[in-house]
Amino acid sequence: MILITGSTGLIGSDACLFYLNKKKTVIGIDNDLRSYFFGKRGSNKWKELILKKNKQYKHFSTDIRDKKKIFYIFKKYGKRITSIIHTAAQPSHDWAAKEPFTDFEINANGTLNLLEAYRVYCPQASFIFTSTNKVYGDRPNFLPLREKKLRFELSKNHVFFKKGIDESMSLDHTTHSIFGTSKTSADLLVQEYGRYFNLKTATFRGGCLTGENHSGAQLHGFLSFLVKSILTEKEYSIFGYKGKQVRDNIHSIDVVNAFDQFVKKPLNGGKVYNLGGGRENSCSILEAIKMIEQISGKKSKYKILNKNRIGDHIWWISDNSKFKKDYPNWKIKINLKKSLEKMISHEIKNLHG
Ligand SMILES: NC(=O)c1ccc[n+]([C@@H]2O[C@H](COP(=O)([O-])OP(=O)(O)OC[C@H]3O[C@@H](n4cnc5c(N)ncnc54)[C@H](O)[C@@H]3O)[C@@H](O)[C@H]2O)c1
Repeated sequence: MILITGSTGLIGSDACLFYLNKKKTVIGIDNDLRSYFFGKRGSNKWKELILKKNKQYKHFSTDIRDKKKIFYIFKKYGKRITSIIHTAAQPSHDWAAKEPFTDFEINANGTLNLLEAYRVYCPQASFIFTSTNKVYGDRPNFLPLREKKLRFELSKNHVFFKKGIDESMSLDHTTHSIFGTSKTSADLLVQEYGRYFNLKTATFRGGCLTGENHSGAQLHGFLSFLVKSILTEKEYSIFGYKGKQVRDNIHSIDVVNAFDQFVKKPLNGGKVYNLGGGRENSCSILEAIKMIEQISGKKSKYKILNKNRIGDHIWWISDNSKFKKDYPNWKIKINLKKSLEKMISHEIKNLHG
């Protein structure tokens, strides 16, 4: 039995489907708070309806901030739970600054509720946390970068991080944003439960996680929202860095496959992994726009604002080497072009009912 929080979200719902297809029982926790953050367009309710059709799926519209109810669920199923995949979160950089208490109570306190319920009721299980590259704050912006026609790139004579940024980067003395700080708190707690209590926990620091199941909104889900904006001929706003900021993108299925490696062979002691699409699946926003235009045949409308988001990365590419060393069977199966094709055809289907 697998327990998945944020079970109707991009990563959570794909994780649910993955394990339901393997005939596992899945306990899903999600109260569609995403619609509170991002409005109706950001809602994941449609995925709750799909998941509920499967008899092996049990849904709880419980808030992870509600310690009593979370403990009740863990007490009820604890002995049978083999793995916990915790993806529920307030996921947006910008939204967090609107309601810092809400953000912190969900991302940090909510994670602590789950960790403690896990330690008490099912310490035999493994615990996977979807962290973020924002734990490094704006430290990546201190790297020497050169400006090219469509993207920023690492300076040629810089010897480190050629393959992308690894886990050796410092978390300290940087601007994280309010969101980055609540996620870092959770990330450290997950590590500490692994180290201090010798549990099988892993924190995966994601780059841009994407896929056709993302309910992209302006404040979260950059590629999904960009695809939607271009296909519906809506203007897209780029926040600063001339649109040349670089992100690596990984499809949700590849993320779930990575999690499954850990589920099958969990390691003790609080593992930390960067996880992203890597250099091959990186693009700047301008490059992403070009690719979407080419695949869809649509012309984009966008404006570039001078002001960047506070603490936003100029150049982020994940180095997956550490994870690949521990789990050599894992590799990316859906590249950026394929992800975009999937997202575009999903969106076209939606538009035509
Ligand atoms: N998508 C990305 O680019 C990205 C990048 C790095 C890290 N992450 C992290 O990965 C995780 C999953 O991201 P996603 O893109 O699938 O997000 P998502 O918004 O699609 O899914 C998160 C789900 O959590 C639910 N949720 C939020 N607060 C809740 C609460 N208090 N109680 C119960 N449910 C709650 C939401 O309703 C939503 O369905 C998040 O932790 C996010 O911070 C995402």
